[in-house]
Amino acid sequence: MSDNTFDLVVVGGGPGGYTAAIRAAQLGMKTACVEKRGTLGGVCLNIGCIPSKALLQSSELFEEAQHSFAERGISVGSVKLDLKKMMGQKETTVAGLTQGIEFLFKKNKVTYVKGTGVLQGGGRVEVSGEQTQTLKAKNILIATGSEVMPLPNVEIDEKQIVSSTGALDLPKVPKKLVVIGAGVIGLELGTVWRRLGAEVTVVEFLDRILPGTDNEVAKATQRIMKKQGIEFLLGKKVTGAKAAKTGVTLTMEPAKGGDAETLKADVVLVAIGRRPYTEGLGLEDLGVEKDHAGRIVVDKNFKSSVDGVYAVGDVIEGPMLAHKAEDEGVVCVEMLAGQKPHINYDTIPGVIYTWPEVATVGKTEEQLKEAGVEYNVGKVPFMANARARANGFTEGFVKILADKKTDKVLGVHIIGPDAGTIIHECVLAMEFGASSEDIARTCHAHPTLNETVKEAALAVAGRTLNS
Ligand code: FAD
Ligand code: NAI
Repeated sequence: MSDNTFDLVVVGGGPGGYTAAIRAAQLGMKTACVEKRGTLGGVCLNIGCIPSKALLQSSELFEEAQHSFAERGISVGSVKLDLKKMMGQKETTVAGLTQGIEFLFKKNKVTYVKGTGVLQGGGRVEVSGEQTQTLKAKNILIATGSEVMPLPNVEIDEKQIVSSTGALDLPKVPKKLVVIGAGVIGLELGTVWRRLGAEVTVVEFLDRILPGTDNEVAKATQRIMKKQGIEFLLGKKVTGAKAAKTGVTLTMEPAKGGDAETLKADVVLVAIGRRPYTEGLGLEDLGVEKDHAGRIVVDKNFKSSVDGVYAVGDVIEGPMLAHKAEDEGVVCVEMLAGQKPHINYDTIPGVIYTWPEVATVGKTEEQLKEAGVEYNVGKVPFMANARARANGFTEGFVKILADKKTDKVLGVHIIGPDAGTIIHECVLAMEFGASSEDIARTCHAHPTLNETVKEAALAVAGRTLNS
């Protein structure tokens, strides 16, 4: 094999692409990964999951130091914010992790090719970077991810009108931040800046927040966030935004029609969703099929409509989540290696890293009702959990939905402290097809927050012990 000939060329070095490349190399494939960003890790590590979690953690500590320490008898004097240093911690974390992937590539003998990849047909990928080169491959995996969904008449300048990328890098705390979209990004980044001192208003097109999330959990989230100081304007359609020296003026109208209104802000965050990113990849010339939303259409082996071309992650159908992209990348290359892996789309967890956190897996009540499935509900508040009370964070609940006839767990929805960690016992239980009784009869250590999961499982059969 010549230097530029590979078994697999992966285009895109995000969670889907870099994980696939490492696994492919481990399986003996000569593998290259093409990435144009200049660093590996994709949206997730560079401008998504990781920087947002660094700021969520720092801002939560700031909030606790200001408002919760005193209640526990800890006096720290006046608490001050050093935003530059906070941003520096975020950047150091990101740099460490992205460089870590370069190390993993070396360790696993993946060739890292810096530059923009364009598919040329016949298994060729032209890469333009510092120099232009053509790679040849038996198989090509597209993992080019997603980009911010634009909003007509709202031009993102990443200074006054920002996407999540700009909102992760504001040089000072805005006095007033307006967020367009009450989805995951809107709530996470709205939370960060509210904790750091901004007045935050979230404008949402629908008459509810977090569409797709279990309704009861979404309502509880809205109530708790309102108590924390975030304002919600629901059922409002943003029709435009104008940036000037004095700030941004947002125009909106009721989603159901009516008179236009304006809203002033120092910074506006546009967070109305993301769309698959395939620009300039050469897919049209190759005849790679896309759906109405611009996603690459793949079969269950992640093969596109063109032989030898595969795709995973945000660029195909399904939730836009890093762990979903990673699992697809691994499954795709294991299939190419002749193995028989599987991916269970019914047990992909989703976590919103606000405080309290929101974590969910499987079907919501609304989905079960729509499908005509009969189910039992077990719901227990964290207020009934000894550890939550000792920790001083008792808001939220665990809700388990189990099939009425078989008792099989169909969905778990949690809002509460560390919900994103707690959910994993439920994910594993569902992966193994557990009933709620299986969870209820599993010994849970005391005192832990997870005991609320056991109590909710007991509640499915109406036999709680501690609530
Ligand atoms: P990406 O991560 O988008 O990577 C694709 C890569 O391909 C990019 O680096 C891009 O530069 C490169 N590329 C594109 N075209 C080319 C080309 N022609 N040649 C070379 N390279 C190319 N998900 C979670 O699960 N948990 C979270 O907490 C979370 N937080 C998030 C926070 C924010 C603010 C955002 C925006 C997203 C968040 N996500 C989170 C979503 C997560 O980032 C994505 O689901 C994930 O990154 C998708 O991985 P991917 O590999 O499909 O694509
Ligand atoms: P989203 O799809 O979660 O939410 C977008 C919201 O904007 C929706 O509520 C929608 O109704 C609303 N909206 C759409 N058009 C509007 C308009 N014109 N005016 C007002 N509201 C409007 O999208 P978001 O928050 O941008 O996140 C994108 C993706 O990134 C998500 O799909 C998510 O999977 C991923 N992500 C995941 C995170 C996590 O796992 N913790 C964190 C951040 C992002």
